[in-house]
Amino acid sequence: MAMAVRRASASAFRALTSSRNLNSSILTRDLHASPGSKKIVGVFYRANEYAEKNPNFLGCMERALGLREWLDSRGHQYIVTDDKDGPNCELEKHIPDAHVLITTPFHPAYVTEERIKKAKNLELVLTAGIGSDHVDLKAAVTAGLTVAEVTGSNVVSVAEDELMRILILVRNFLPGYQQVVRGEWDVAAIAYRAYDLEGKTVGTVGCGRIGRLLLQRLKPFNCNLLYHDRVKMDPELENQIGAKFEDDLDAMLPKCDIIVINTPLTEKTKGMFDKDRIAKCKKGVYIVNNARGAIMDTQAVVDASSSGHIAGYSGDVWYPQPAPKDHPWRYMPNHAMTPHISGTTIDAQLRYAAGVKDMLERYFKGEEFPPENYIVKKGELAPQYR
Ligand SMILES: NC(=O)c1ccc[n+]([C@@H]2O[C@H](COP(=O)([O-])OP(=O)(O)OC[C@H]3O[C@@H](n4cnc5c(N)ncnc54)[C@H](O)[C@@H]3O)[C@@H](O)[C@H]2O)c1
Repeated sequence: MAMAVRRASASAFRALTSSRNLNSSILTRDLHASPGSKKIVGVFYRANEYAEKNPNFLGCMERALGLREWLDSRGHQYIVTDDKDGPNCELEKHIPDAHVLITTPFHPAYVTEERIKKAKNLELVLTAGIGSDHVDLKAAVTAGLTVAEVTGSNVVSVAEDELMRILILVRNFLPGYQQVVRGEWDVAAIAYRAYDLEGKTVGTVGCGRIGRLLLQRLKPFNCNLLYHDRVKMDPELENQIGAKFEDDLDAMLPKCDIIVINTPLTEKTKGMFDKDRIAKCKKGVYIVNNARGAIMDTQAVVDASSSGHIAGYSGDVWYPQPAPKDHPWRYMPNHAMTPHISGTTIDAQLRYAAGVKDMLERYFKGEEFPPENYIVKKGELAPQYR
């Protein structure tokens, strides 16, 4: 108890002395300031009959990251739901007195400014996965919330999936599969636009953890590899990966047969691929986007796919999510879209469930998180979101 009080006063002192904490609401929400039983609300996708099919299927609402017993035994209240949208949803009922909100990009609870204002007790927003753009990060900064994700937890899962999508598009795989399912056999209908990946130019827009893993996986395919990022890689790593840095995105795009998007969704990347930018890409380009749907202008992608300027578009991210039945990407030609699945393999779930548990444990003890996990900390936004 004495330790908890010491922690609370130390943290209040830090808050008072920090030059960044000028906003009074930041003082009231400083992390670890209120020890005791917490109300933790988790929002996950519902698994129904699939929940029981695999004991490691931790990412669904029913298994709730495997945290229930542990949180109950420590006297915390753990509410889980998949009902996240609209004014009368379950999430909305628990917002006013929740201390911690656990969300996931696969079934994003949109943590809007309005919700943050209602969440008077909220201290911590954890993303089970990577990508916290479903949280209004500016509002989180103003409110003094801590936002953290499980950095690195599913980067291999996404990079592998991107490689698969590149091959699916370039080899014109899906129409062949669909023929078989429909009882047809027409080699020509597939072969006239199926290519090898070898010798093609692949450019990643954003070359952080996922971008680099993708380039490493592409190396044995003997492609010409390019990357654009705000940061140039260390020359040794660049050399090892075998990719060339392109400082100017618009100069890189016309060189690429295949473009893969690997940036976070930020104010700068939102709508980055609009009509004009897509027009700068090579005619017949393939685009893979597992980063975030809103990096693309939805209609510009539909138009370019319809005209053939984009030869194929694949990804698993949409805006909003779940994608409505009438989302135009469901109906455009030559797409290979799926629901948001690339980063929620069972392996990834085990990693991000463990990462969330680790951060909760640290939060209860008043300890720091791994530094790379912070997206908003003490009124400051992580560099990749600036
Ligand atoms: N589909 C999925 O399941 C899934 C899973 C994990 C991550 N993601 C998405 O992928 C994104 C990237 O993940 P990561 O782990 O590689 O992140 P990361 O932080 O390691 O890398 C992001 C890179 O993007 C660069 N970047 C940021 N803004 C840029 C800009 N305006 N122009 C050029 N480069 C810019 C950064 O410098 C950084 O190198 C996440 O933010 C998330 O949105 C999707």
